[in-house]
Amino acid sequence: MQDQHGLVKILAIESSCDETGAAISHNDSILSNFVAGQSIHQQYGGVVPELASRAHMQNIVPVVNAALEKASTKLSDLNAIAFTQAPGLIGSLLVGASFAKSLALALNIPLIAVHHMQAHVIANLIPAQKPAFPFLCLTVSGGHTQIVLCESALSMKVLGETLDDAAGEAFDKTAKLIGLPYPGGPLIDEYARNGNPRRFKFPEPQISGLDFSFSGLKTAILYFLQEKQRENPDFVRQNLADICASVQDRIVSILLHKLKKAAIKTGIRDICIGGGVSANSALRKSFGELGQAMKWNTFIPPFEYCTDNAGMIAMMGYYKYLASDFVDLSISPSARAEW
Ligand code: KG4
Ligand code: ZN
Repeated sequence: MQDQHGLVKILAIESSCDETGAAISHNDSILSNFVAGQSIHQQYGGVVPELASRAHMQNIVPVVNAALEKASTKLSDLNAIAFTQAPGLIGSLLVGASFAKSLALALNIPLIAVHHMQAHVIANLIPAQKPAFPFLCLTVSGGHTQIVLCESALSMKVLGETLDDAAGEAFDKTAKLIGLPYPGGPLIDEYARNGNPRRFKFPEPQISGLDFSFSGLKTAILYFLQEKQRENPDFVRQNLADICASVQDRIVSILLHKLKKAAIKTGIRDICIGGGVSANSALRKSFGELGQAMKWNTFIPPFEYCTDNAGMIAMMGYYKYLASDFVDLSISPSARAEW
């Protein structure tokens, strides 16, 4: 039930990977958005699923309490609970799903299941300046790389996606090769600021249509580094900024090349990016420049809504609430997701 002013308050939970998120929304405004990261994975060079589940168990109550407090909201004010149902690590999803189901049962309010990748697209509707439907979104995260046609908040189609690694993986695996800790994407971004993006040339994969591939690039980088390190064992340390800038430049050009192709093919001019890699400064800059050249209206969510967060789950939850798109308490999370 909405309150007497037709306002809807939703508590959203995100736990698909290694960030525990909680947010409170009031209609299409996000009142609070908290994320607890999990530094424990750094020492293992990637997310360890069981440790992620355990950390969600520890973090979920404090994060929810922080979100409620910041939004000056009581549990009894809530109209619905939204949670990430898929895709993600199953043990991580189970923690958020169980918490959300229990709370919806205890409060006797509707439960809303949200698709994590659709929520990354809908993060573009959080700022006051929103894209108009239909719009395109390049969604780039640690596990996915997709071009999505968004006809409405509840109707999306994947026009192209990666056939192997995701863009975030290309960043993270490169970082690992050059000895940077996990997750390496933000560190490559940082080192690249002082580097020359034209110094080293890496290949652009020849994939037809709107699909992507990043596994060939990863292999090319590996062979390149092996060869250079045979000549000079200190090559990476001496050329870190240029390596980071050159790899980043190639990943960004692969992404934007396909996005441009999708925009031309569909004739759509409202174009967005989303997902963790959309926090990348070179992608944001080049996307803005391409948008200007192509006369697109470009949109990028604020940083806190690019990487995994519950604000985007709340936003998607709001649109599902308006459509009475609720799930019953027998719902299970799923590691994979249909569109
Ligand atoms: O969307 P996200 O937070 O989680 C998933 O749903 O996967 O994306 C995480 C990915 C990681 O691969 C991380 O390295 C990458 O986003 N990432 C970045 C940057 N910030 C996060 N990659 C490049 N530059 C960044 N600034
Ligand atoms: Zn994500």
